[in-house]
Amino acid sequence: MKDFNFYAPTEVVFGEHSEEQVAQLVKKYGGTKVLVHYGGQSAVRSGLLDKICGLLSEGGIDYVKLGGVVPNPRLSLAKEGIELCRKENIDFILAIGGGSVIDSSKCIAYGVCLDGDVWDVYIGKATPEKMLPVACVLTIPAAGSEMSEASVITNEDGDVKLGYSNNISRPKFAIMNPKRTYTLPPYQTAAGVTDIMMHTMERYFNTECDMTLQDEIAEALMRTMKESVFEVLKNPEDYRSRAQIMWGGSLAHNDVTGNRGIGDWSTHQLEHELSGMFDVTHGAGLAAIWPSWARYVMHENLSRFVRFAVNVMGVPNDFTDPEGTALRGIEAMERFYHAIGMPINIKELIGRDITDDEITEMTRKCSRDYKRVCGQFKPLAAADMEAIYKMARG
Ligand code: NZQ
Ligand code: ZN
Repeated sequence: MKDFNFYAPTEVVFGEHSEEQVAQLVKKYGGTKVLVHYGGQSAVRSGLLDKICGLLSEGGIDYVKLGGVVPNPRLSLAKEGIELCRKENIDFILAIGGGSVIDSSKCIAYGVCLDGDVWDVYIGKATPEKMLPVACVLTIPAAGSEMSEASVITNEDGDVKLGYSNNISRPKFAIMNPKRTYTLPPYQTAAGVTDIMMHTMERYFNTECDMTLQDEIAEALMRTMKESVFEVLKNPEDYRSRAQIMWGGSLAHNDVTGNRGIGDWSTHQLEHELSGMFDVTHGAGLAAIWPSWARYVMHENLSRFVRFAVNVMGVPNDFTDPEGTALRGIEAMERFYHAIGMPINIKELIGRDITDDEITEMTRKCSRDYKRVCGQFKPLAAADMEAIYKMARG
C-alpha cells in the first residue's frame, strides 16, 4: 500500500433535524457576519433559504444574501461575491445548495483574502494561504464538495472550466438533511448518483491494486448507490434510500474509498471540457465519457475491470474469457446509465452530433495546449484524449 495522508476535518451534521443547529455551528467556527450563498430557485421554493436565514437571525447572527449560482458556477458571480464580502465585512460563507454553490463559495472565500485576481488561483499563478471559512447546507448529493478540498469554476471568457484543490477549503461543517433532497428532479438525482459512483471509480481504477480494504469499501458504496437510485426514482420520498445516497456522496469524495492521489481522474478531466463547452450537467457528462474511456484503457489492467464487472455490476465471471467479462461489465454499466436516464455517449448528451472542430477544441483545452498528460491508469496524451472523444461521439 502506498503512503498517504488522510484529512477529513468537516463536521458532518446529518439527519432530518440537522438544520436546527446552523446558528450554533456558525458561531462555533467563528462566524459573526455571514454571506448566505445559494442557487437559482430550489432553496427559495422549498423554504429552506428562509428557514436558515430565520435561524441565523434568531441566533443573533448578521447575514447578507447572494443568490443566482448556476450549475457549472461562473467566475463573474464569484467576483461579485468577493466585492460584496469586502464591502459588508463578511467573515464566514454559508452555501445552501450543491456542488456549484459550494464551489462558488470556496472561490469567493479564496478571493476575499487574496491580492489580485482569484482566477489566478485556478490557472496556477497564485497559491492562497488563507481564505474565509466556508460551510454548507447540502441540498443535492453529487459533487462531494461538502467534504472535499476541490472547487471547480467556469470562466465565461473562453468557456474554460478549471478545478483547484487545497485542503484549506474543506468546509468547516456540512448540514445534511436527506428530506431536502426529495424535491430533486429525476435527472439531477441520477446525475448525482453517477457522479458519486464516478468519484469512487476514479479512485478504484488505479494501478496500485494493493488496497483490499479500500476496494471492498468502494465496491459496497457503488453497489449501494446503484440499488438506492432505483428506489428513489420510484419513490422520491424514500428517506432511507435518500439518506444512503446523501452519505454516499460525501464518503465517495472524502478519500475514504481511496486517496485521491492514487486515482485516475481522466474521465473527470475529459468531462470538464464537455460541461465547459456545452454547459451540460456534470454527472451526465461523465456517463457520456466513461464507457469509451473504459474500453480504451481496459487492457492496462484487465483484472481490475473483471473485478469491477463481477463485484459491482454482478456479471458472472467467465474465467476462460477475462476480456469478455470485463466488456460485459462495461456494457452492464451502459444499461444501468440508460435505466436511470443518463446518456452513454456525447450525441445522447448534447442531442446532436459533435463536430470534429469541437473535438479538436476540447482536446486542446484538456491537454492544456498539448502540454498536459492526464490520468494514471493509462496516462493520456492529447492523441489519446482525441481518440476517446471520437469513440464517445455516438
Ligand atoms: O439552482 P437551483 O435552483 O438550486 O437548482 C439546482 C441545480 O439546477 C438543483 N437542485 C439542487 N438541490 C435541489 C435542486 N433542485 C431541487 N431540489 C433540491 N434539493 O440541482 C441542479 C444542480 O445543482 P449543482 O449544485 O450544479 O449540482 P452538483 O452538486 O452536481 O454540482 C455540480 C458542480 O460541481 C462540480 C461540477 O463540475 C459542477 O460544476 N464538481 C465539484 C467537485 C468538488 N468541488 O469536489 C467535484 C466534482 O467532481 C465536480 O466536478
Ligand atoms: Zn465529479
